[in-house]
Amino acid sequence: MILSTSPTSVSHKEERMSSRAETHDTRSEGTIAATVSSTRLRGVARAADYHRSEDEQNATEVSARVTYEPKAIVFACNWCSYAGADLAGVSRMQYPTNIRIVRTMCSGRFDPAFVLRAFEKGIDGVLILGCHPGDCHYIEGNLEAEKKVTTTRRLLEALGLDSRRLRLEWVSASEGARFANLIKEFTENLRNLGPTPLKGGK
Ligand code: FES
Repeated sequence: MILSTSPTSVSHKEERMSSRAETHDTRSEGTIAATVSSTRLRGVARAADYHRSEDEQNATEVSARVTYEPKAIVFACNWCSYAGADLAGVSRMQYPTNIRIVRTMCSGRFDPAFVLRAFEKGIDGVLILGCHPGDCHYIEGNLEAEKKVTTTRRLLEALGLDSRRLRLEWVSASEGARFANLIKEFTENLRNLGPTPLKGGK
């Protein structure tokens, strides 16, 4: 038995197949376009999220710096520098209130362990004040302090702390203005340095 197919029916069949194929292709393109488009949107959203979180982080850091007030400890020798601080006080000289003064009998009493303990507790800077060279009541206590400060500054650098956070200066009993200016300058330097990396919300 011979099966014959008329040219007309073949042609219709081809057209239908071609039409289905076109419909299929169009749908596939639509699906691909939608997928690409949604992937791009997700990428854009992710990038926007990333930039937003980066901006938020920067804003938080800026706000922390603006509100940051450094805290410092001042070790002042009893015979010269503490008297200088007293003179600044009674003369009503203005200086930042970011410091707490610890009186020692001589700057030579300074111990590196004091500094390490202070930084561990969240202090931003330590200032040692003593009599001018030649004026120490214990002859060479201030020179001893100088040696110890040099060693301690190296130690701080090794620990990843800026050595400018530890400073040694000479202030006599008659230098109230010098004391006030040193406190202003030291506080400003600490403000520029920012909080210590050791500061853990203390
Ligand atoms: S007594 Fe002032 S530094 Fe020694």
